[in-house]
Amino acid sequence: MTERDPATLTLAPIVGAQGSVALPGSKSISNRSLLLAALADGTTRLTGLLDADDTQRMIEALRLLGVRIEHDRGSGDCVVVGVGPAFPNRSASLFLGNAGTAVRPLTAVLAMQGGKYRIDGVARMRERPIGDLVDALRHQGCELDYLASAGFPPLAIGPAGGRAGGRIPIRGDVSSQFLSALLIALPVARGAADAATTVELVTPLISRPYVEITTRLMQRFGVGVATPDPSTFRVEAGARYASPGTLHVEGDASSASYFLAAGVIGGGPVRVTGVGRNSTQGDVAFADVLAKQGADLRYGDDWIEARRGRPLAGGRIDCLAIPDAAMTLAIVALFAGAPTRLTNIGSWRVKETDRIAAMATELAKLGADVAVGEDWLEVAPLASFRHAAIDTYDDHRMAMCFALAAFGGAGVTINDPACVRKTFPDFFERFAQIAGGATGPAAQALPTVIAIDGPAASGKGTVAERVARALGLRYLDSGSLYRLVALLALERNVAADDVPGLTGIAGTLAPDFSGGRIGVEGRDVTEALRSEAVSAMASRVAVHAPVRSALLARQRAFRAPPGLVAEGRDMGTVVFPDARLKVFLTASAEARAGRRHKQLIEKGISAKMDDLLRDIRERDARDSSRAAAPLAPAADAVVLDSTDLSVSAVTDAVLALYQARGGAGGRG
Ligand code: C5P
Repeated sequence: MTERDPATLTLAPIVGAQGSVALPGSKSISNRSLLLAALADGTTRLTGLLDADDTQRMIEALRLLGVRIEHDRGSGDCVVVGVGPAFPNRSASLFLGNAGTAVRPLTAVLAMQGGKYRIDGVARMRERPIGDLVDALRHQGCELDYLASAGFPPLAIGPAGGRAGGRIPIRGDVSSQFLSALLIALPVARGAADAATTVELVTPLISRPYVEITTRLMQRFGVGVATPDPSTFRVEAGARYASPGTLHVEGDASSASYFLAAGVIGGGPVRVTGVGRNSTQGDVAFADVLAKQGADLRYGDDWIEARRGRPLAGGRIDCLAIPDAAMTLAIVALFAGAPTRLTNIGSWRVKETDRIAAMATELAKLGADVAVGEDWLEVAPLASFRHAAIDTYDDHRMAMCFALAAFGGAGVTINDPACVRKTFPDFFERFAQIAGGATGPAAQALPTVIAIDGPAASGKGTVAERVARALGLRYLDSGSLYRLVALLALERNVAADDVPGLTGIAGTLAPDFSGGRIGVEGRDVTEALRSEAVSAMASRVAVHAPVRSALLARQRAFRAPPGLVAEGRDMGTVVFPDARLKVFLTASAEARAGRRHKQLIEKGISAKMDDLLRDIRERDARDSSRAAAPLAPAADAVVLDSTDLSVSAVTDAVLALYQARGGAGGRG
C-alpha cells in the first residue's frame, strides 16, 4: 500500500460493456514457473509474467535464497538463472504476504532440501491451514515446527531435509496446493536420483485443474508425473528439473471471468486475450458455465469473447473445479432469471478470507436474498439494487467481482480497492475501458434513452409514442411485458404468487412487436393485453423481484440506434439509470380515472367511474408499496403533473426538455 491508494472507489452505474482486454499473466502459472525455473539446470526466460503482489513475494523470496532473477516489469519478461535442486543460501527468513502459491510450494521445497528457514506471512496467512502438507513432509523425514499455532504458519524448517521414495498419503479436500507443493518438491528430495515416490490422495481432490497446471509445468521442466489412477501421482527416480529455454505465461483465466461476465451482463461483446480454447487453466471452464447459463461465448486460440445471449438461467452449478471464477458467478446470479446455487465451494472458507461469509454479507448489502451452507451459496436474482459500500477483506477477488454490481443500476462503492494488487494491479483501469457508464468512455457509443415513468393512466404511453415519433426514435412500452407475463399466467393457470412459475414465463417470453401490434406464440394479443383482468394480474406479477430481473435484459435490448423512448414504472430508476432525460408523469387519480373512462366509452366498452377509480388506486398502492423497484421518480427526473394539461402540451414539454439537453447531439 502507498499513501496514494484511495480508501474507496465509487463506480457509477454501468449500462453496457464492450471492448477488448489483454489479460495479465496467470498467477498460478507465474509463481510455479518462477520456482521451477529457479530449481532447474540452466537459464529460463519467462514471458508474460504477472507483475503483482503475489509474484513479487515469490521473486523476493527466491532472491533471498540466492537465485538471480532479472525482471523487466514493463515488458513482463523475466530471466531466471536456475540453481539446480538446492538453493545456495541455506538459511533465510521469508515473508510471503498472503500468497498461497508461494507459501505452500516453498515450504515443501525448503523442507525437502533442508536448511534453517522461517516462513511467515500476513495475519490472514497465519489462519490458512497447512497442517496436511506438513504431515506429508514429516512423513518423508522433513523437520518442520509450528512457531505459533499447530497447523498454521509461521513455520521453522530444520536442516535434516526429506528423502524421496515410498508412498506419501495426503489429503486433497482442503487445498489442492498441498498436493501441488509436494509434487514440485519431490525432485529436490534426498535420494530422488535413485528412488521413485508415489503420492496418494486419502480424500477426494478439489480444484483438480490446478494440479494439472502443476504437472504440465513440471513436464515442461523435464519431470513427468504419472497418474495411473485419479488418486495416485508418481514421480520416477532420476527426476531433475531442466530449463525449457523460454516459457510463455498464459493470461489469467480467473481474471478473465470479470470481463466475460461484464460482456454477458452488459451486452458485449467483450473479448479477453491471453487465454483461449486450448488453455491449460481450469478456470476457462467458467466460460462454458456462462454459455450453459444462456450467454453467447465464442473462442479463438488466444481469445474468448462473451456477449449477452438468452436471459440467464439460474439453477445449481457445481463449482468444485472452478473455485476462484465461481465467485464471479455469485454476482452474475443477481442478473439471472432464477436463483443460482453454487455448490462444492467449501474451499472458499480457507482462501484470502472466508469467502462464503464475506460474499453473503456483501451481497446482502446490495439488497440480495442470499442463503449459505458449509459449502454452498444460493443467490436470488435482484431487480432493484441498493447502492452499497462493499468491504473487500483484503481479498482481491471480492473487489473485482463486486465491480460487476455496478451493472445493477445503482452503482457500487468498493472499499480498499487497492487490494486488487495481489493479482491484478490495474484491474479498475481496465474495467473502466470496457464498461459503459454515464461517464465511461463507452457512453458515447450507447444510443440515447428518454425514460418516461408514471402511474397507470397518467398518459405516459401516448406521450412516449408521440415523442418517439417526433424524434424518430424506437419505443418501448415496458408495461406490455408485464402484461404478457400476466396474460400467459392467466391462460396457464399460474397463480399470482407462484414466483418460479411466473419467472419461468418471464424468462422464456418471446414477444413479437412488429407492425405496431403485440404477438406471442404466433397470435395477436394486442387487445387481450388491455383487459382489466390482465391489468390487475400485471401489477401482481410485477411485485416479484425475480420476475422483474428476468425481464430486465429484454427491456435493455430495446436500446438500439437511433435511440429509445422507454415508458413504464422504473425506466429511469432501474432499467435505464443513465437515460439522458427522465420524466415522471403524474396526474390526480380522478383525472386518470376520467381519462380511462373516456377511452373505454370511445371503444364502446361500458365502465363505471367508481370502479375505475378504485382500480387505479389499488394499482397505485401495489406499484408504490412493493419492495422491488417501487413506483417513484428517479432523483434526477423531471416531474410533470398533467392533470390540467393536454397530451399535446405534455408531449411538447418533453420535447423541449430533450432539446434543452442537447437533443440527439448530447451524450448518454
Ligand atoms: O403501464 P402498464 O399499465 O401497461 O403496466 C402494467 C403493470 O405492469 C403496472 O401496473 C405495473 O405494475 C407493471 N409495470 C412495472 N414496471 C414497468 C411497467 C409496468 O412494474 N416498468
